[in-house]
Amino acid sequence: MTVTFVMDGKEVTAQDGQTLLDAARDNGIDIPTICFHEATTANGLCRMCVVEVEGQRVLQPACIVKAGTNMKVQTRSEKVIRARKTILEMLASTMDLSDAPDILTMMDEYGASHERFPDAERRESDVKDDNPMYIRDYSKCLLCWRCVQVCAEDAQYTFAINFEGRGFETQIATFFDKPIPETTCVMCGQCVGVCPTGALKPKREFLLESGKSPAEISVMNTGKKQRKPR
Ligand code: SF4
Ligand code: FES
Repeated sequence: MTVTFVMDGKEVTAQDGQTLLDAARDNGIDIPTICFHEATTANGLCRMCVVEVEGQRVLQPACIVKAGTNMKVQTRSEKVIRARKTILEMLASTMDLSDAPDILTMMDEYGASHERFPDAERRESDVKDDNPMYIRDYSKCLLCWRCVQVCAEDAQYTFAINFEGRGFETQIATFFDKPIPETTCVMCGQCVGVCPTGALKPKREFLLESGKSPAEISVMNTGKKQRKPR
């Protein structure tokens, strides 16, 4: 079964049950996303994908709203652009986006300012370096939930990480904030692979960025010095 509706003034067809985001992509219409990832269940958390649907009072997240017959959808109306720009400006005001190139590109595209909310409280956190595989820098975390989901039902069924706190204090954590080696983590690396902001990063990459040489890193990993090439 298919549904036919109008997106950006053009009649488009979608499979029954498809989201507005999938329908847009199938029809060559670009809708930006941040929290959405093909491998994880969409939760509609970041709101970057919002679109205007005729008859709806508020903007709708395209990654979770299903396409319906006779819908009239605008993906780049003035209201939509203003909302996306504000979302980006709020992110830039509260977290470190220096390792999130896709989001920085979106900021340029939407003319979003890094200075829009100068008094906003920033999420600050020390880098957690407690295992040989990856570091966690939650000052770069935008709470997209992807890591929690791949660690749970979306992929690994390990449940090593979850969230703690409420509201602004919410953050990703291990149970009882235990170091990673004391959790059920099996170091599969899937959380690192889906993190869009560098909040989770391979330890080797982190050490290289910190100025360590590959030889020093090898010694740290194995405890043995590398033989010099002849
Ligand atoms: S650590 Fe990365 S993947 Fe996990 S919630 Fe934060 S930004 Fe998303
Ligand atoms: S991409 Fe749709 S809400 Fe985040």
